[in-house]
Amino acid sequence: MASVRLKNVTKVFEKNVVAVRNVNIDVEDKEFVVLVGPSGCGKSTTLRMIAGLEDVTEGEIYIGERLVNDVPPKDRDIAMVFQNYALYPHMTVYENMAFGLRLRKYPKEEIHRRVLEAAEILGIKELLDRKPKVLSGGQRQRVAVGRAIVRKPKVFLFDEPLSNLDAKVRVQMRTEISKLHRRLETTTVYVTHDQVEAMTMGDRIVVMKDGVVQQIDTPLRLYEYPRNKFVAGFIGSPAMNFVDGRIVAADDALWFDQGQFRIRVPRSKESALQPYVGKEATLGIRPEHIYPKHELEGLEEAAQMEVAVDVVEPMGSELYLYLNVGGSNFVARFPATHEIREGEKLDIAIDMRRAHFFDKSTDEAIGVVGG
Ligand SMILES: Nc1ncnc2c1ncn2[C@@H]1O[C@H](COP(=O)(O)OP(=O)(O)O)[C@@H](O)[C@H]1O
Ligand SMILES: [Mg+2]
Repeated sequence: MASVRLKNVTKVFEKNVVAVRNVNIDVEDKEFVVLVGPSGCGKSTTLRMIAGLEDVTEGEIYIGERLVNDVPPKDRDIAMVFQNYALYPHMTVYENMAFGLRLRKYPKEEIHRRVLEAAEILGIKELLDRKPKVLSGGQRQRVAVGRAIVRKPKVFLFDEPLSNLDAKVRVQMRTEISKLHRRLETTTVYVTHDQVEAMTMGDRIVVMKDGVVQQIDTPLRLYEYPRNKFVAGFIGSPAMNFVDGRIVAADDALWFDQGQFRIRVPRSKESALQPYVGKEATLGIRPEHIYPKHELEGLEEAAQMEVAVDVVEPMGSELYLYLNVGGSNFVARFPATHEIREGEKLDIAIDMRRAHFFDKSTDEAIGVVGG
């Protein structure tokens, strides 16, 4: 097995389209790293450069200790799984899985052994004689994964492998790929635009936007300490609420002043926000950190306010509440046990210990370092 290292990697397509800009990523041996970001942010291009399917314009890519910039894809000891499965329609499942090994002139018995082993792991033994066209989407995706694992490569590369599957199968395959990784421990780089997939599967996550890496961190740290407003809004569902306002000093405390209302800055964040007094800032509150007022009774860092309930969305186990106060809109997540009607006034409390503040001019998080 092997690490994967991208050092100052840039990819420029013709007409000066910069798809990937000065990217640095260190994937450790046996690690499962997810590249996530909106469509067009450079995820596939990054993966394809690791695979050798695209040239690197600038920078270096290492697999293990070996610089692979000039190594052809077939000699990189990687296996890639694509969104569209790319199975050969005229071959059976068995032949599809055996094909790569045949090309590499593996002995017949070895091929047979590996295909059966992979089929066993993936639970597709009874499909080995079938052709892809009679398989379901989930089964085809398993075959595509099987074709990768028979190779026993140093690195697995996945490009949105679950995007074509319906929601239920997608959740199931997500778990299966995670289990497979725990079993095989093969270094993996996995691309998705789905932040839930990223959060549930990745040891670490690389968040990209416009070809630039925004943050590389564990799922929990991305959630707790997003480094900028983009990461803060991308990770978490429903997304973090943002309110623009100004930091002011009054009554021996700092306040976030929205114009129509103000919220006390918790003591723990005062020193980081001190330089912003008199300046604009953005307050970020996750929907799950807004509570019915009485639930945070006695908490010093609770910001209480009366809000109007615009819309109530029942989600089964919880309610999404669309709230309005002083012209600012918030989404809140409450347990479904609360009876709340559209149009009513509601007393809420925000747990300001979990609040985030961003520099209005740069969108950088205030007081978050490292990561
Ligand atoms: N072969 C290509 N030629 C020109 N531009 C490309 C090519 N492939 C991708 N791009 C551009 O590079 C950017 C990143 O694309 P891509 O890596 O496919 O993004 P993602 O996988 O994150 O959706 C996009 O602007 C896309 O249009
Ligand atoms: Mg892509």
